[in-house]
Amino acid sequence: MTIKNMKKLPEDFLWGASTSAYQVEGANLTHGKGPSVQDIKKVPEGTSELDVCSDFYNRYKEDIALMAEMGFKTFRFSVAWSRVIPEGAGKVNQEGIDFYSNVIDECLKHNIEPLVTMFHFDLPAALEKKGGWSRRESVDEFVEFARVLYENYGDRVKYWLTINEQNMLTLVGDVIGTGSTEGVANKYKKLYQDNHHMLLAQAKAMKLCHEMLPNAKIGPAPNISLVYPASCKPEDMLAAQNFNAIRNWLYLDMAVFGRYNNLVWAYLEERDALPDIEPGDMDIMKAAKPDFIGFNYYNTATVEWADDEGEVKLGDQQSGAKEPGVYQSFANPNLLRTEFGWEIDPMGFRATMREMYSRYHLPMIVTENGLGAYDKLTEDGKIHDDYRIEYLRKHIEQIKLAVSEGVEMMGYCPWSAIDLVSTHEGVVKRYGFIYVNRDEFDLKDLARYRKDSFYWYKKVIETNGEDLS
Ligand code: BG6
Repeated sequence: MTIKNMKKLPEDFLWGASTSAYQVEGANLTHGKGPSVQDIKKVPEGTSELDVCSDFYNRYKEDIALMAEMGFKTFRFSVAWSRVIPEGAGKVNQEGIDFYSNVIDECLKHNIEPLVTMFHFDLPAALEKKGGWSRRESVDEFVEFARVLYENYGDRVKYWLTINEQNMLTLVGDVIGTGSTEGVANKYKKLYQDNHHMLLAQAKAMKLCHEMLPNAKIGPAPNISLVYPASCKPEDMLAAQNFNAIRNWLYLDMAVFGRYNNLVWAYLEERDALPDIEPGDMDIMKAAKPDFIGFNYYNTATVEWADDEGEVKLGDQQSGAKEPGVYQSFANPNLLRTEFGWEIDPMGFRATMREMYSRYHLPMIVTENGLGAYDKLTEDGKIHDDYRIEYLRKHIEQIKLAVSEGVEMMGYCPWSAIDLVSTHEGVVKRYGFIYVNRDEFDLKDLARYRKDSFYWYKKVIETNGEDLS
């Protein structure tokens, strides 16, 4: 549809950006923090350890001041569960509680609304060693963690996100270091049992949030990519529906409607992998209602029909996968790619927003979107990231079009506020508006520099998205 009368974004649109604790903070085993699964994983060859990252733990004041200079209305960050409760359950680490309390106060001092992700890929290692999300007890452990967060920060935090990219934890956990399925007899059974526990934990945490903090708002934060069929062949359409259900709708159908997606149910039945569901579980799922949907969008996916032959192939969050008899990835010839091989699809962003809104009719906030690139610091201290500006501009244009088509968008938080460590491609894959002066293994001085995109985004926020030039 051609839109000639563009609507303005809402006055209270939440402009900001995102980070996650294990990728930005550093201080990963100090100040009382227990290890998380990220701290005990073997980092991919050629990439940095997570002990310093961007040193946000020590420099949060300077970083939040820079965010304020850009005009942020919100800052999405995550709490490291094992900083707050080192063993995942039991004793609370007061120093950890104080750290996030200070971060929240610093945001509020600058009129920045904290948007807090409760769990972003960093399950406490102590819980993982006991069996992680495979144990039924993990549900209550998460809810207890949520209670600690609500008790300590609920007086100041209005917006909460439950679990970052639960779909990626389930689909590509091996790649992002959140758990391995090596040696597991039926990996589908394990992964979707874990997934059931996470869904239940999320539902209970949303319910508890509404009981304890009646003025707060809470929602999930999956990674949603609309899946295209590679052609107009009917079998490609079926493959696209399969992957859409497995990758996207399972998570939102459950969070919003409290029911299992029927295609995913059939897929699990075929694999002898239906989760064990206890009496009352589905009532809990149905009773819990998110106030909004947070979602991460990097690009669309395209798939074609896959016959029953061949092996299952794993990609990463945004690329290449195959499941015989279900779908296989197809390189979309209509799209450009980033330096790291991820497709770029701003129009697909609009298509994704339209589809999500027509399915769930809830306000939405973009909790991640962005371009990973090899940025260069020039001798005079500049970073000319016009490619990032181009990427973000085109995506914001699509938000404005979607809003003009009646989609309710609450805000936009690209990835990432500041450079940080990628999930599996190290420090060199940079996303931030703020450059951090370090290399993969040489920490240099960790000084902060404003990229060209920093000044551009400041103007975008100042004009509430009217000036994207
Ligand atoms: C999302 C994650 O999948 O994508 C982030 O929520 C991650 O944690 C981001 O960093 C970008 O992915 P990557 O692999 O480039 O770091």
